[in-house]
Amino acid sequence: MSGNFPKWLDNAVFYEIYPQSFMDSNADGIGDFQGIISKLDYIKELGCTAIWMNPCFDSPFGDAGYDVSDYYKAAPRYGTNEDLKRLFEEVHKRDMHILLDLVPGHTSVEHAWFKESMKAEENEFTHRYIWTDSIWEEPLGYGSIRGISSRDGSCVVNFFSHQPALNYGYYKPDPQKKWQQSVDDEGPRATVEAMKDIMRFWLSMGCDGFRVDMAGSLVKGDEDGKGTIKLWQNVREFLDEEFPEAAMVSEWGEPDKSLQGGFHMDFLLHFGPSHYNDLFRCDAPFFAGNGDASEFVKKYLENYEKSERKGLICIPSGNHDMDRLARTIKGEKLKIAFAFLLTMPGAPFIYYGDEIGMRHVENLVSVEGGYGRTGARSPMQWDNSVNAGFSSAPKDALYIPQDEATDRPTVQKQLEDPDSLIHEVKRLIAIRQAHEALQSKGEITFIYAEQKKYPLAYVRSCGEERVLVVLNPSDKAVEFTFAEPLKEKIYVLGDDMVVVDASVKVPPCSAHFYLF
Ligand code: NOJ
Repeated sequence: MSGNFPKWLDNAVFYEIYPQSFMDSNADGIGDFQGIISKLDYIKELGCTAIWMNPCFDSPFGDAGYDVSDYYKAAPRYGTNEDLKRLFEEVHKRDMHILLDLVPGHTSVEHAWFKESMKAEENEFTHRYIWTDSIWEEPLGYGSIRGISSRDGSCVVNFFSHQPALNYGYYKPDPQKKWQQSVDDEGPRATVEAMKDIMRFWLSMGCDGFRVDMAGSLVKGDEDGKGTIKLWQNVREFLDEEFPEAAMVSEWGEPDKSLQGGFHMDFLLHFGPSHYNDLFRCDAPFFAGNGDASEFVKKYLENYEKSERKGLICIPSGNHDMDRLARTIKGEKLKIAFAFLLTMPGAPFIYYGDEIGMRHVENLVSVEGGYGRTGARSPMQWDNSVNAGFSSAPKDALYIPQDEATDRPTVQKQLEDPDSLIHEVKRLIAIRQAHEALQSKGEITFIYAEQKKYPLAYVRSCGEERVLVVLNPSDKAVEFTFAEPLKEKIYVLGDDMVVVDASVKVPPCSAHFYLF
């Protein structure tokens, strides 16, 4: 791998915190920084080494904070900038790292930049967003905001209709449309510099890097990503110079592009061509025991080869945008799913609550632009006290209702049960951390990943160390061929496998790691 690559990423296991739902320290029904600080030891004991925290900046919360109204100010509901700085310090005290969520593609309509850019009179922010030069012209291929200000134009939106797109220019501006600026024009260049200033501000305060929202969306009309890659390379140069230790992970889902752009890590996304959903979230997910992992493996290998080991492909257990893992994968099979997530290359990301199998809360009314995603964002379940220990506010003051089931999983219950998911996740993280071959940069070779067949088997290797991983979430005993003699069992879930000559018999619902 080339360029600056923070050493700690070699063995990083991330924990994603959705701040509004993690821990409420002041009984207002919503999580906050102090609440997170009080649970850092929990995250550390789980074995996680780093945190990605979803947006925590000032915002009207029309999209859970992905609609920033002030990039320089912590949202008061979470605390002050000072509190956030203290969170960084407390994280570092525990030898962990923390990434903030940077949203460079759009702001809220309430951002001061947008308010200025809505004015008819030319000013510093006239070109901060992408505006056509007539209210009657809508930008093709994008939605727009129009008719709400004195400015005669329509503004491109980047996601919801209250999220105007920041102007990074068009890769090939259409000469007929004078309003489309080139990436080298003054407006787009100023936007990039404004983003660098924001990064500089938080990195100087002590955050360790960023997860970048919709990182591939910046330059418009840029089908093969060339303009956006160049933009990120420019950001990379700035980081290498001023903050060489800053770690960057992109929500892009095309590692051949993002890693070339200088990101250290790219997420494998649950939308687009990745086939991630085949494993966890479709009618017949592979890890539910009656699915197909072969297309996923094909696509994964394609990306793995294309990314030329320039950085890491990160597979999340879930996130704030998709159904809870436990909606489709249940019981022991959840443990096998984690055995997969925690033995793949790249840095694994555990979405808060997935380590206890928190359920998707069904039929919730949308909160903060969550819509169908709201059920995966319900407050963390810690113990059997009021509101599962999340908050001491009255129950109906919780900003999202919790899982009401009497048997809802909690951290406390699971810690008391040696067979619970949380203990398995801890075990798996500890094994990963004890074996370099299983960590971020260990190579992977798939041994058995046949269409509609089980098990899934692969080898992870690093130097002399080689680990065979065999996963059978199906309810049937299955077989595959592996010619090399196995040396030492380092993990088993379920019954042992039996090897006769080169034929490996794998019991139903089991997982196995062997050194060989
Ligand atoms: C991706 C984020 O993960 C999602 O939650 C958000 O709604 C969109 N980007 C828009 O920022």
